[in-house]
Amino acid sequence: MSSDPGQTGAALSGSARRLGSCHNIADLRRLARRRLPAPMWHYLEGGADDEWTLRRNSSAFDDYQLVPRQLLDIGQIDLGTRVLSQELRLPFLLAPTGMSRLFHHEAEPAVARAAQRCGTLYALSTAATTRLEDIAALGGGPWMFQIYVFRDRGLTREFVERCRAARYHALCLTVDAQIAGNRERDRITGMTLPPRLTPRSLMSFLGHPRWALQLLRHPHFELANVAHRVDALSRSSTSLASYIAGQFDRNVTWKDVAWLAQQWPGPLVVKGLLSPADARRARESGATAIMISNHGGRQLDGTPAPIDCVGPIRDAIGDTLELIVDGGIRRGTHILKAIARGADACSIGRAYLYGLAAGGQAGVEHALGLLQAEVERDMALLGCRSIAELRGAELWPLRARS
Ligand code: GLV
Repeated sequence: MSSDPGQTGAALSGSARRLGSCHNIADLRRLARRRLPAPMWHYLEGGADDEWTLRRNSSAFDDYQLVPRQLLDIGQIDLGTRVLSQELRLPFLLAPTGMSRLFHHEAEPAVARAAQRCGTLYALSTAATTRLEDIAALGGGPWMFQIYVFRDRGLTREFVERCRAARYHALCLTVDAQIAGNRERDRITGMTLPPRLTPRSLMSFLGHPRWALQLLRHPHFELANVAHRVDALSRSSTSLASYIAGQFDRNVTWKDVAWLAQQWPGPLVVKGLLSPADARRARESGATAIMISNHGGRQLDGTPAPIDCVGPIRDAIGDTLELIVDGGIRRGTHILKAIARGADACSIGRAYLYGLAAGGQAGVEHALGLLQAEVERDMALLGCRSIAELRGAELWPLRARS
């Protein structure tokens, strides 16, 4: 459990009690919603256009049925798995998510520490509010850094060098966000970076005094990994945000992936693929893994849910690449279904951010603990003792069998 020197013992036990009354990720989501001012909540929760893909990411899991096998010795259940050359104690890792400081003042270090305590990998975003070196300084890991191929290739090279020096274990190249998706909620709420008092946001901030107080106590807010790139004279978080936006390069191609694979000696994940043909291109370009992802429904609306892409992609590439499924995971059974479909591991984003918003590091640990308990119980109920056995578990498509 994390401790906040600003909180009294009574307040701390109050927040521990509230976390304790969250029995699943949906409960944490409700608590997060109560904690966050509207601009932050909708930034976290929103998707692109009509949010069809956002909804489909979770609901698509309902199209698969787990078929348990009985009377097997389920005395020992091992959740450990090896991905990206790392032994993880959990079959899911923590996806890169931008600007965690928006959701809780403990920000990315809280998430990294929680991942470490639970024995899984944390991926730090380029758009984080914490320097990649400060995460590495927490010790151990494993850590992955999420990167883009920027217009200024020198910036990409700089990140590679910094990750190498800080002993990051893997790099994750995001390829589905060369231009921003249409997130209408952010326009409606007047979401800005850093959060600013506007007539529209004022009422919401007043309605969330705890969050607003923490913003006043910890006002420092910047895209810490690129801050040094902006001229000190024009330095403000807004100019940083536009600096980053100006760095997105629509001309990036598979050649750049091959270039990056040559720069980086460790595992390289290409994040944001849904097509079997692209999975083959990723393999040819030197990737070691792909993250099947539609960016949490935040980019192109109308794309398939990642769970529906696992089978076709696994068929296309066999066991030549590791597959990580990212999108819509809110239950242990979702993780079981993704692995039974052919994934090596899953990746969660909003599920841990709800925990972060609900209670800082303790909230993230609670989220991870809930999912871990669900996966373990559900594997036992399914009759699978290991992730290898889970890969062979029977999964029936809903429509064909009902
Ligand atoms: C960042 O990657 C976002 O989706 O907001």
